[in-house]
Amino acid sequence: MCGIIGYIGSRKASEVLISGLSHLEYRGYDSSGIALMHGNSVDVYKAQGKLVNLIEILKTKQDICDISHIGIGHIRWATHGLPTTVNAHPHTCNCKNLTLVHNGIIENYQELKEILQKEGCIFQSQTDTEVAAHLIAREYGKTNNLLKAMQSAVKQIKGAFAFCAIHKLEPDKIVVAKRNAPLVIGLGEGENFVASDIPAIIEYTKKAIYLSDNEVGVVEKNSIQIFDENDKLIINKVEYLPFEAVAISKMGYKHFMLKEIHEQSDVVRNVLSGKLLGINNEIKLEEFKLTPSEINKITRVQIIACGTSLHAGMVGKYIIEKFAKIPVDVEPSSEYIYRDTIADENTLVIGISQSGETADTITAIKQVKEKKSHIAIITNRADSTMARLADSLLPVNAGIEVSVAATKSYMAQLISLYLLSIFLMEQKFGPSAINDEVKTLKQELIELPSKIEALLENASNIQRVAKKYANYKDFIFIARGINYPSALEGALKLKEISYINATGYGAGELKHGPIAMLDENMPVLAILNTGIVYDKVLSNCEEAKARQAKLIGVTNYIADKDVRLFDDIITVPSGSDLISPAVNIVVLQLLAYYIAEYLGKDVDQPRNLAKSVTVE
Ligand code: F6R
Repeated sequence: MCGIIGYIGSRKASEVLISGLSHLEYRGYDSSGIALMHGNSVDVYKAQGKLVNLIEILKTKQDICDISHIGIGHIRWATHGLPTTVNAHPHTCNCKNLTLVHNGIIENYQELKEILQKEGCIFQSQTDTEVAAHLIAREYGKTNNLLKAMQSAVKQIKGAFAFCAIHKLEPDKIVVAKRNAPLVIGLGEGENFVASDIPAIIEYTKKAIYLSDNEVGVVEKNSIQIFDENDKLIINKVEYLPFEAVAISKMGYKHFMLKEIHEQSDVVRNVLSGKLLGINNEIKLEEFKLTPSEINKITRVQIIACGTSLHAGMVGKYIIEKFAKIPVDVEPSSEYIYRDTIADENTLVIGISQSGETADTITAIKQVKEKKSHIAIITNRADSTMARLADSLLPVNAGIEVSVAATKSYMAQLISLYLLSIFLMEQKFGPSAINDEVKTLKQELIELPSKIEALLENASNIQRVAKKYANYKDFIFIARGINYPSALEGALKLKEISYINATGYGAGELKHGPIAMLDENMPVLAILNTGIVYDKVLSNCEEAKARQAKLIGVTNYIADKDVRLFDDIITVPSGSDLISPAVNIVVLQLLAYYIAEYLGKDVDQPRNLAKSVTVE
């Protein structure tokens, strides 16, 4: 994880770096630092904790900030060494000529460190990055050329990295390199930028070059040169960035998470647009590249993802099996990697990822790609590493998601999976497969944005429930069938932003162990949707009530005789079981949000987390 930024031009480098880092905080926020070049000097400033701490330090360094127009910066999510000031980046070599920021993990850092120590290098920090700083500096000693030093160093490094380096003896350039970690170069007039991600530079430029793995680049004020691993100068494609600066502002909401929850009705409209053209029409999914006869040959589907994206995949299993009649396995990417998975050219692999940069999912996808399976990627970032690995790229266009807790991207993934499931069915079985159930689902997808809006307009009941339960230490979420993943996702949302111990269970599993935990101190939130499992979940609620648990029902229907069971009821708009995960989740997101907000937690940047998990 971590975010890196670099600037060279005529603006005050410190301002560009700090603004860039503030937009990269989703990648980590346990410490930060910048290095400012002026003449042949470099000053490094670092701070533990949030970026504001660094900003405070810089207020006392205005003289340097005023004269520096070249610099590099970093925001950290600790992997090697505690989140302390000494471990914060930038790191330097012993003679302090070279300064480096790094995102990624250097796997052979111990080995390299021992060699460098024997050669006399003295280490200040516990980081793997400092090893790279000393290594590049050593190579500089042999070459007197920062580009060549970087090229030589990266050949000795195993693992993942995006590097930005500056050197006192070459004060007019930033040298960059990357492997298995994102890095983009933003192009300006008489200035250039380097960043881990677009939000860091979007206010300055809409033109960028994405570096590919093992490329090394020299970024100067008026030029950019990129070399491949054979030292050949290459011309990378200039791409036009799809985002507006406004997409990364809170637009008056207290937190990004609340804004992003409110954007979900538009996200649904976006994802459906051009694809769902009416209840009697077939779904149009031009991005899906398999022909009907190839789809007919698919014998299994494997969905690989992590966290919230995994929960979307679990809903996907339910609807793909229902409509396309193909068996689906869903597995966390981190588990998929380390076993002998069975996949072949008749397997459709669906990778789901908001960021498209999650290391576990990337590794799993690369692994299965070798087995010739068709790779479909559902991602919010069509410019990501995962998108580039796709045979079929299904971008969901939820817009930039800033809050660490995923909300609107989950909604977009769900809608994309609904479309894909119906599409697979229609391609496989032809137009006659569009039966009443499918037509109803299509109609419900069309009506979903207004249902979400209705829910958001009546959030006061959710706010009331949040306040009532905010001080409980534990929570259980239960549901069955297609809403089982909703229970998991609701619990994940609550725990990650409020730090309340919340666990999701299939309601039928309660009696196989978890029921032992129930008493008056354990609220149970039950998702009850009319449909095949309604009565079963209701019985599970009875069982919970009999153990004195406080019961909260999230439901689209409750008979008068059953109201007595519940301490609190949150009503959602009516709808079928099939569409219900996309409705219920909005309640669970809001409940988690209001509880965390009531408890005064750092909603958008919960402790220990980062938005883009680029380490395995
Ligand atoms: C939770 C959350 C994480 C991510 C997970 C995968 O709110 O955001 O659980 O879903 O880290 O990230 P992506 O979807 O970017 O692959």
